[in-house]
Amino acid sequence: MLVDNLSDPSGGAYKNMVTLLRHHGEDVEKGLLRIVPTDVRDFEALRQTLRDADTVLHFAAQVAMKPSLEDPITDFEINARGTLNVLEAARRSESNPVMLYTSTNKVYGRLDRVPLVEKELRWDYSEDSPYYEGITEDYPLDIGGPYGISKCAGDMYFREYAKTYGMKTIVFRMSAVYGENQYTTEVHGWVGWVISRALLKKPLTIFGDGKQVRGVLHVQDLIEAFELAQKNINRVRGEAFNIGGNRRNSLSILELLKLLKERYGVAPSEVRYANWRKVDQKCFIANCRKALEYFGWRQKISKEEGIDRMIAWVRQNIADS
Ligand SMILES: NC(=O)c1ccc[n+]([C@@H]2O[C@H](COP(=O)([O-])OP(=O)(O)OC[C@H]3O[C@@H](n4cnc5c(N)ncnc54)[C@H](O)[C@@H]3O)[C@@H](O)[C@H]2O)c1
Repeated sequence: MLVDNLSDPSGGAYKNMVTLLRHHGEDVEKGLLRIVPTDVRDFEALRQTLRDADTVLHFAAQVAMKPSLEDPITDFEINARGTLNVLEAARRSESNPVMLYTSTNKVYGRLDRVPLVEKELRWDYSEDSPYYEGITEDYPLDIGGPYGISKCAGDMYFREYAKTYGMKTIVFRMSAVYGENQYTTEVHGWVGWVISRALLKKPLTIFGDGKQVRGVLHVQDLIEAFELAQKNINRVRGEAFNIGGNRRNSLSILELLKLLKERYGVAPSEVRYANWRKVDQKCFIANCRKALEYFGWRQKISKEEGIDRMIAWVRQNIADS
């Protein structure tokens, strides 16, 4: 069962549902796949929907920092209250489902405690920092911006519901996920956004100096992490895991532009610069050794392979449409 209110501003949720229906029409007819256009703010609808669920993957969210700064109340209602609704609906269902929550690197706030060095094309962690290989889950929840707070509320509720109610909850703190079927916007999904601006030869605005770095994670690796964590639920319940790109797969906007130019011969028509976005982290690299230790997950798809795949998909589905 898929629950979504189709509010995704890129229109991607709707397009992906149509694709899904096209490919799995038979499953819909047999009642094996249901699409339920419900809002996570509607508690009664969620109660009905989650009545017999054995697994709940909770992705629905207001997903970007900028809208949360413009309308923090809606952001709170969807992300914090909506997540509590999902948990409560599942708790009252008595089926005790496995529940996975997609939290974010934003729960670590501005990362002021990590010393940075400025390089030609990127910000980076200083080599003598204990976080050089990436941020671990013991980094304090320093929370930045309304989106960080509302997502962190969900993160804390999920972990707490394992302790207080014995529920089978897991938290993934994700960052910079990209890959096929991702319809990006200027405020969400920067890897795909930069690629599409380059392929479409449209102007690109960089907020800040373009040296901001993220460890990037291809969606196929993320799916594998979901599956492995669910299989190891007794070990992982109540825990939070950083699931993101490691140092080897970290990338700045300027480095991505360079790669696009040198390897694929494409570039935006113009690159403009604007002020830094509020609460932007200059560098986030995920250290995922806890996920390796608890459920044997490690990132397999390199940024080069992932970008190849993303480019092929954008070419076919966005640039040519
Ligand atoms: N993509 C990333 O890099 C990333 C990083 C960190 C965390 N996350 C988290 O992962 C989850 C999925 O994000 P995504 O990147 O796939 O974004 P997405 O926009 O593709 O997915 C979010 C979905 O939630 C739906 N939605 C929004 N408000 C809703 C509501 N009130 N009720 C029901 N559905 C609603 C949207 O229509 C959309 O389909 C989110 O919780 C997000 O915070 C994503």
